[in-house]
Amino acid sequence: VNNADVVSSTGSMIVISNRLPFVLQRKKDGSLVRKASAGGLVTAVAPVVINGNGFWVGWPGIHLDNPNEPIPESDPDDISPTTGLKSDKVIVVQIDPVIFDSYYNGCCNATFWPLFHSMPDRANFKREHWKNYVTANKEFAECTLRALRQLPRKNANEVPLIWVHDYHLMLAANWIRQYAEDEGIPCKLGFFLHIPFPPWDIFRLFPWSDEILQGMLACDMIGFHITDYCLNFVDCCQRNLGCRVDRKNLLVEHGGRTVRVRPLPIGIPFERFVELAEKAPKLLSTNQQIILGVDRLDYTKGLVHRLLAFEKLLEKFPEHLEKVSLLQISVPSRTDVKEYQELKEEMDQLVGRINGRFTTPNWSPIRYIYGSLSQNELAAFYRDAAVGLVTPLRDGMNLVAKEFVACQINIPPGVLIVSPFAGAGETMHEALICNPYEIDDASEIIHRALTMPEDERILRMNYLRRREKLNDVNYWTKSFLSAMGSLQTQDDHDEVG
Ligand code: G6P
Repeated sequence: VNNADVVSSTGSMIVISNRLPFVLQRKKDGSLVRKASAGGLVTAVAPVVINGNGFWVGWPGIHLDNPNEPIPESDPDDISPTTGLKSDKVIVVQIDPVIFDSYYNGCCNATFWPLFHSMPDRANFKREHWKNYVTANKEFAECTLRALRQLPRKNANEVPLIWVHDYHLMLAANWIRQYAEDEGIPCKLGFFLHIPFPPWDIFRLFPWSDEILQGMLACDMIGFHITDYCLNFVDCCQRNLGCRVDRKNLLVEHGGRTVRVRPLPIGIPFERFVELAEKAPKLLSTNQQIILGVDRLDYTKGLVHRLLAFEKLLEKFPEHLEKVSLLQISVPSRTDVKEYQELKEEMDQLVGRINGRFTTPNWSPIRYIYGSLSQNELAAFYRDAAVGLVTPLRDGMNLVAKEFVACQINIPPGVLIVSPFAGAGETMHEALICNPYEIDDASEIIHRALTMPEDERILRMNYLRRREKLNDVNYWTKSFLSAMGSLQTQDDHDEVG
C-alpha cells in the first residue's frame, strides 16, 4: 500500500520516534542488515516522509560501536513501506549503552509506562533515570536539528513539519524549537502520544511533571487517541503550570503561544488485513470454538485476569468443556525489565494450573504461545476465531481489536469483547464491553459471546468493520497533517502540477 497516493504533506516532514521504522541486525560476517517493521504506523507514515524527501530520526535497535558505520539500504526484495527510505534520509541516534538503558528500560518503561497507564504502584521514580531521559531527549533533538538543516525546501514560504512520537520523547520538542529558532530555521512541531495520558492526581506523582508538560507544550499541536486523554492533559497544564486553558476548544496558553490539543484516534491498514485474511490458510481445527487473545506480554494487558475469567467460564458453564479453547499469543516484550520477567513466570504457572485442572485426553483448555507470529498466521487466527478477547486493564488504543474485526470476513462472523479501559473500548460501540477486573461478569460476557445468535453477530460486526474501514490509519495520518495545517489537498497537487 503506497500511502503517498492517498496522503501527502505540503512540505517536508521529519519524524522522530524512539524506534526507527526498521531495526538493524548484525550478520555473522559482521555486516549490517535492515529488518523492516510491519506496524500500521510505519505503513502510513513512511510513504509521507519518503514522498516529501524527509527524514526519520530514531534508534536502530542495536548499539553501534563506530558511530560513522554506514547504514545499509533496504534489501531490494523487501516490499515493506520503508524500502524507499534511503539511508541518507535516516538519522541514527547513538546513545551510550549505559545511558540508553537507564533512559529506555528505566525512565520510559519502568516509570512512564506504568504511571501513564494509571498503575503508580508499579512505577519507580529514580533521579538517575530522569537525568538520563533528559540526556537522551537532548540527543534526539540534536539529531533532529541535523536533519532539519539538510531538509530540502521547495520555496522560502515552506515551513517543514517535525512530528514527535510517544512517551520516550516528551522533552525533545523543547530543544528542537530552541535550536531551530537560534539558527533561524522555521518549523512546525507536532506531538502524538500513543499511550493514555493519566488524570492529574496520577500525573503529579512524577517528581518532574512540570518539565514534561513544558516539553510537550513546545509543540504547536498535541494529539492523543481520545478526548479523555486530551482533557487530562489540559487539566494538568492548568493545575501544574497555571496555564490559561479552554476546555471546550482544547487550547492551552503557554509562553505566549496557544497550543492546540486534539483527539486523533489511530486506525489500522484495514485493507491490508482484509487481503491477508482472504489469502491466509486455514490453521485452526473447526470442531472447536476458539477464543483468541493476542498481546505483548505486558501487565497492562490484563492477561492474568483474562485467564482467571476463562477458568471461571469453564467452572460456571461446563457445556463449554471440550468445545472451547482459549488461544493466547503472548509476544515477548521488554524482557530486561523485572516486572515483565515476573509476569512471564506468573503466566506460565497459571496456564499450567488451569490446564492441569481441566485437560482431558483429547482437549486442553488453553493453548499458550509465547512468541511472535507471522502476519499470515495472525490473520488466519483473527479470521477463524469465534471470539476476540481484548481486555486490557488500561490501553491507549489497542490495535488488536481493530485487526480482529478487519479479518472477520467469514459469515457468520465472530464476536469482539473489549475493555472500556482501552481507547478502542471508547470507540468500538458494537463490541461487548467487559470490565476485566470483575472476573465473574467477564466469564458471563464470554459465555454470551460464545452463544450469541448469528443475526446479532452479523449486525454488530458489520458496524464495527464499517467504522474501522473508514477510520483507517491513512485517515489518521491525514487528520494529523490536517490538524497541523500540513495536508496537501487536491488543489495543491494541481498547483504543483
Ligand atoms: C507501545 C508504545 C510504542 C512501543 C511499543 C513496543 O505501543 O506506544 O512506542 O514501540 O509499545 O514497545 P517497545 O518498548 O518494544 O518499543
